[in-house]
Parts: sequence; structure tokens; C-alpha cells
Amino acid sequence: MIDFSTNYLGLKLKGPIVVASTPLSESLDNMRRMEDAGAAAIVLTSLFEEQLALESRALDEDLSRGTESFAESLDYLPDLSDYRMTHEVYLDHLRQAKAAVAIPIMASLNGATTGGWVRYARDMEEAGADAIELNTFALATDRSQTSAELESQLLELVDNVCRAVKVPVAVKLSQSFTSIPNLVARLEDAGMRGVAIFNRFYQPDFDIEALEVRPTLHFSTPSELLPRLHWAAILYGHTNADIAITGGVHSAEDVLKSIMAGANVAMMASALHIHGIEHIGRVMADLRYWLEKREYTSLSETRGCLSRRSVPDTSPFDRGNYIKTLSSYSLRQTVAAF
Ligand SMILES: Cc1cc2nc3c(=O)[nH]c(=O)nc-3n(C[C@H](O)[C@H](O)[C@H](O)COP(=O)(O)O)c2cc1C
Repeated sequence: MIDFSTNYLGLKLKGPIVVASTPLSESLDNMRRMEDAGAAAIVLTSLFEEQLALESRALDEDLSRGTESFAESLDYLPDLSDYRMTHEVYLDHLRQAKAAVAIPIMASLNGATTGGWVRYARDMEEAGADAIELNTFALATDRSQTSAELESQLLELVDNVCRAVKVPVAVKLSQSFTSIPNLVARLEDAGMRGVAIFNRFYQPDFDIEALEVRPTLHFSTPSELLPRLHWAAILYGHTNADIAITGGVHSAEDVLKSIMAGANVAMMASALHIHGIEHIGRVMADLRYWLEKREYTSLSETRGCLSRRSVPDTSPFDRGNYIKTLSSYSLRQTVAAF
């Protein structure tokens, strides 16, 4: 009998697979299926800073029988109807989810700057969230904005959310930071209990016939796992924050790699959209088979075994790997040519 249990954000989870934030969890029936298939926790879809700002301004507008200028000032934001749920519907769904399944439910807040919307973290806590995942996605498009400013904006936001609630807060981080270990250390000082690596960056695509720029959402492939393994392996042992890998986890092998890199949990979204929710059960069965065959008794025995601090040769994680990989490729090519 394999012990799959793991700890994430101070929560004792029955296994390593967490359902990442996705609209699949907008249905209670889906959430029951996730639990039955072996998911250890579920992250709900996000409530967005922009949506919450719009909602509260719309309320002010109603109360003060507002003006045209108010509507004009909101032109840059998507229409409220573009968002999937209002915060009240969200909190209600969260309460129902808590009653429907026994596994932990994490609510998700998604924003870039601190402000009044942060109070919704407390509402989520009161509605029963076991933890909050804070998705922080800031894009620098202004040449006067420095990396240091973006980082301090992020730290201030995390500090404010952590102060607002007692439940643990995980930060879903973008990969676009220069010194991730340093940033993670400072986020920890700001109260972060776990780091989810990494947010996916949904770049728009160009339609060269229509000369238009269009939003795109492609599901991930397992190749997206590699940068996440790399950074988890570097962070493991150098942070007290728990580590979640999100991005490119599709199979039992991907889950094992994540844990071996040092993650506490592996999150899945695309794989469930592609193969269905019951895919979690197949991954758990494959995981069990792999571990039993090698006579492991618990998944935790594998944790961090391929992290940077555990392997005898750290060069694959460092600059040496870059040089070695590039030069070995040209060597192979040269040999093949003759
Ligand atoms: C359809 C869809 C909707 C998503 N919505 C959210 C969201 O609301 N908030 C969020 O933090 N992440 C959201 N994500 C990102 C996922 O939580 C996950 O981090 C990302 O897809 C990478 O994991 P994957 O490779 O398993 O898909 C969404 C992903 C998909 C596919």
C-alpha cells in the first residue's frame, strides 16, 4: 500500500494531484468527479482585480445614479458580462463546493496591483476557502517602469493579501523574473506560504491576412514542464515555502518528475480539458504501479531526489548545462554529416 500523502500550505493532502484553476471547477458535479478520481484539492477559477473593481464601481454608480464620464473611464476594461461570475456568485459557489466535497478548496484571486479589491480575500476565507491562491500577472509595457518597481508592487500586494486573511496564501508566479530564488525569499518574508510555478503567458497571435492581433488559448504540452522542473529543483531546500508545479503536467511521469524536483504537489488543467476529469484516476493508477514496482512505500521518499541540492553534479541546472547542451548538439550534427 503506497502512502501518497503530501503537505501543501499546511494542509494534509491525500495525494499529489491538485486541480489547477480552470472553469472545469465551476460545476459541482465536476468537482465531485475530481474528488472521486483522486484529486487531493481543487483551485477554483479566479476572481479578477479588474472585475472586482468594476463591480464595486458599478455599485457606486448605481448608488449615486452616475454620470457618463464614469462609463467612459472604464472603457479599457472588459465588459462585466465578459467575466464568468460575479463575486457573490463566486462566494456562493465556494460555499456549495465546500459542502459538496471533502477535499480542500482553494479560492483564486487574480490581480497585479494592491487596492480595495484585496478585501475579497477575506470574503473567500469567510466563505470557507481552505487557502487562497493569488495569481499575480503584471505586464510591463511602459518603458519607465523598472523591474524593481514591478517586484515591489508584487510584494506589497502579497503582503496586503496575507495580512487580510488567516488561511495560507500561495502565490502563482510568472516566470518572467530575473532572480526567482531571491524573489521567492522576499515573498516568503511577506507572508507567502506556497509558490505555484508558473503562470502561463497567453500571448496573442497575429492574423497576417486580417492584420489583426487575436487572443489565443492553447492547452499546454508536457514540454512546458521543463522550465518548471528546473526552477522547482533550484528552489527546493532553499525556501520554506511549499512548491506547486502548474504547467505541462499531463501524466504520472510528469507528476513524479515534479515531486522529484521538489514540488509538494503537481497541478493539472490542460490534461483534464483534453482527456477528461477521470484522467486523474489513470494518472494515480500509473503512479501507484511505478512506485510499487520499485518498492517505494511512499511518494514522499522521492521528493526532491532530483533537486539541485540532491544530485552530485549540479551542472545540468547551471550555466554549464547551457554550454554542454549547445556544444554536444553541434558535435552530433558534425558526426552525422560525415
Ligand atoms: C481554460 C483555462 C482557464 C484557466 N483559467 C485560469 C484562471 O482563472 N486563473 C488562473 O490562475 N489560472 C487559470 N488557468 C491556468 C491554469 O490554472 C494552469 O496554471 C495552466 O493552464 C497551466 O497548467 P496546465 O499545463 O495543466 O494547463 C486556466 C487554464 C485553462 C486551460
